[in-house]
Amino acid sequence: MAETPQSNRPNEPLKFAYWVPNVSGGLVISNIEQRTHWGIDYNRKLAQIAEAAGFDYALSQIRFTAGYGAENQHESVSFSHALAAATEKLTVIAALLPGPWNPTLAAKQLATINHLTNGRIAVNVVSGWFSGEFRAIGEPWLDHDERYRRSEEFIRALRGIWTEESFTFNGDFYRYRDYSLKPKPVDPHPEIFQGGSSRAARDMASRVSDWYFTNGNTPENIARQVDDIQAKAAEHGRRVKIGVNAFAVARDTEAEARAVVDEIIAKANPDAVNAFGHEVKNAGKASPEGEGNWAKSTFEDLVQYNDGFKTNLIGTPKQIAERIIDLKQAGVDLVLLGFLHFQEEVEFFGREVIPLVRELEAQGAEATRPIHAAA
Ligand SMILES: Cc1cc2nc3c(=O)[nH]c(=O)nc-3n(C[C@H](O)[C@H](O)[C@H](O)COP(=O)(O)O)c2cc1C
Repeated sequence: MAETPQSNRPNEPLKFAYWVPNVSGGLVISNIEQRTHWGIDYNRKLAQIAEAAGFDYALSQIRFTAGYGAENQHESVSFSHALAAATEKLTVIAALLPGPWNPTLAAKQLATINHLTNGRIAVNVVSGWFSGEFRAIGEPWLDHDERYRRSEEFIRALRGIWTEESFTFNGDFYRYRDYSLKPKPVDPHPEIFQGGSSRAARDMASRVSDWYFTNGNTPENIARQVDDIQAKAAEHGRRVKIGVNAFAVARDTEAEARAVVDEIIAKANPDAVNAFGHEVKNAGKASPEGEGNWAKSTFEDLVQYNDGFKTNLIGTPKQIAERIIDLKQAGVDLVLLGFLHFQEEVEFFGREVIPLVRELEAQGAEATRPIHAAA
């Protein structure tokens, strides 16, 4: 088992992001009480709490149809703009799905929001996991790797439009001739995130994305992904930043935190969890390697949409802070967090956990907690 190379480890302070609950039902497919709301008033206040609590980013979600508890879904770009307008420091990451969005509209829309918010907008290019959603909105459901080929062209086009004076591009999905976007975004352009963990996702990240978002996992399994991606990125003279999902349950005692997770799972809606699992496993199986984000997810894992329990940020603030340092040691630059009761738990996390992480970072604790990539 190889230790994650030093060059793959971030040397900047870890960044923190939270999932914007712009979709109803929260981040778990469970009937447990959730003091979280998908509406704008709740979300504006949450964004203000999050930036005061030390969060750097907020990630909005894009969904076009109901399902698995997500009865209502606000659109990601307009919602992200509203959150940026209600805050001063937070960067809001808007999810974009190639297909419904094309790069021309996305680049123009995001460049304007970039000006309106002093550069506090970023994008998360997602590639689709739910064939029923595509069918409902009349979008062709391309093969898994074709979806990624399109996403890669989408990202190349976005970056080209944002940075080149006169942009020409001859892709299979998108074409431009001497296109000049004015005004260009500032600082220097919105950061480009992507979500997904398949071979195609990793290869795309190594070539074109600024950030790679992946589902929850152990530090050892994350280290394996990081080493793989960074080795390929280095061939292109790049380093990709890494963000990992986690569902955080921080309580005064570990027993209390575990009891919350047990209750979330006990109150899970089995039909909805199984239907979600079926859909996402099928989407992954369609990739050439027959895997994907959720290939090894159990029923319990699937109760949280993006395997957030696997990251195990469940326990006391001290336990969570130490596990976050392990993630940093595995090569993670950003931890993306979901919560049960967002407003109160984001505030608690900022007060109790982030300062401990900063203390451990100041002590150089990463160096004393080596992480070995899983074989
Ligand atoms: C952090 C994160 C956020 C995501 N957000 C969305 C989203 O808002 N909308 C969506 O349709 N898919 C979203 N996805 C799904 C991915 O785009 C991708 O389709 C899925 O992870 C399967 O990819 P894979 O086959 O490469 O593993 C997200 C994935 C991750 C990891």
